[in-house]
Amino acid sequence: MSSRSTLEELAEQYGSPAYVYDLDRVAAARRDLFGLLPEGTEVFYAFKANPHVDVARALRSGDSHACKAEISSTGELAAALEAGYPGSDILYTGPGKTPGELREAIDAGVRLFSAESLTDLESIGAAATAHGTVADCLLRINSATASASTGIRMTGKPTQFGIDSETVAGIAAELRAVPGTSIAGLHLFSQSNAKDEDALIAEFRHTIEVAAQMQCDLGVPLRLLDIGGGFSVPYGQHGERAAYPKLRAELAAALDLSFPGWRQGAPRVAVESGRYLVGDSGTLLATVSNVKVSRGRKFVILDAGINTFGGMSGLGRILPVSVSVAGPGAQRQAAAEQEAGEKASLAGPLCTPGDILGREIPVPELAPGDVVAIPNTGAYGPTASLLMFLGRPAPTEVVVRGGEVVSVSRIEHVRSYRRVERDE
Ligand SMILES: Cc1ncc(COP(=O)(O)O)c(C=O)c1O
Repeated sequence: MSSRSTLEELAEQYGSPAYVYDLDRVAAARRDLFGLLPEGTEVFYAFKANPHVDVARALRSGDSHACKAEISSTGELAAALEAGYPGSDILYTGPGKTPGELREAIDAGVRLFSAESLTDLESIGAAATAHGTVADCLLRINSATASASTGIRMTGKPTQFGIDSETVAGIAAELRAVPGTSIAGLHLFSQSNAKDEDALIAEFRHTIEVAAQMQCDLGVPLRLLDIGGGFSVPYGQHGERAAYPKLRAELAAALDLSFPGWRQGAPRVAVESGRYLVGDSGTLLATVSNVKVSRGRKFVILDAGINTFGGMSGLGRILPVSVSVAGPGAQRQAAAEQEAGEKASLAGPLCTPGDILGREIPVPELAPGDVVAIPNTGAYGPTASLLMFLGRPAPTEVVVRGGEVVSVSRIEHVRSYRRVERDE
């Protein structure tokens, strides 16, 4: 492509539904996130948000502020390696690490793991020992207390994640003695998508205090403190990434209090982020297949549903989305917005009543063939959706930079099949 294409042209050229990821926005988000944090803070990119190789590579390359990778599967490991993250810059997390995947990660040069329990630490150690090496481990802590009032809370209750903070002192000697491991630090991830800055800061402050207590309980000086994340961006709705103007100073102050050596790298401090780094880079383009009225309610049926965006909608994490019309329909949209008030449900093509992207949301006047754009869909898109449900092809993923197309790809579903012959 030699000139800038409109979103509608991209849908026409490469098919619908299609995600368009803008690498300039990925670069801007990376710059902004590093700018929000105290100098020297490391950022682990959570591959679960979007493992697309071009997107992940954009977070790695460029200037001195390169992200590291937080992964939790061998699929993400392959994506990280392909995107240019060396094993030494990868943190492997997750509550169900198998011996096979640990072996694969260690073979690939990964040496930093988040350990979710004493037994998880032991399996990491066994895999490292078998490889003749020692794995650096961050003990993931499930704090007994919490302070955030918003976001998705992932700590403070019984969960598969992390070691209960109140048990750490009692098992510290065992944790320290696991062969093949060295306790490098702590990993606390307590919230996601915290729009409110005060709540985010309060949670980080609390996390840092808990970490300081855990350091005492463990009797090991921390080399790396991963305080988690929570950085927010709208999801499938119009809006901007959250601004956190006070965060940098507040975080530095909290670290000064609990970890006076942090400015000299004792410990190094890290955060994790998925959605903030890639969310606003993405636009989902979908085409209207049909418009119908049922018992007085309007339904706009798209060629993209929860198989394409929002397989997690059942968890209430998505609805309602917002749409705008790409191309000529944009004038109709402007007119409709002036009249204000037209509402419809946005349905996908799947044979399940759950395939709804938005219920009774304001929509422009739409007709079959119109291409609609759902903004802020760069995170938790295809790979967080019910991609294979009902056997529709995965959406096309178009990557652009400076308005020029960089790559076009689609995840393919392929069954590896082998009939097992038996002697009668
Ligand atoms: C351990 C961990 N790290 C990072 C993330 C990324 O979160 P977000 O995309 O909200 O930044 C998650 C999300 O659940 C997570 O569980």
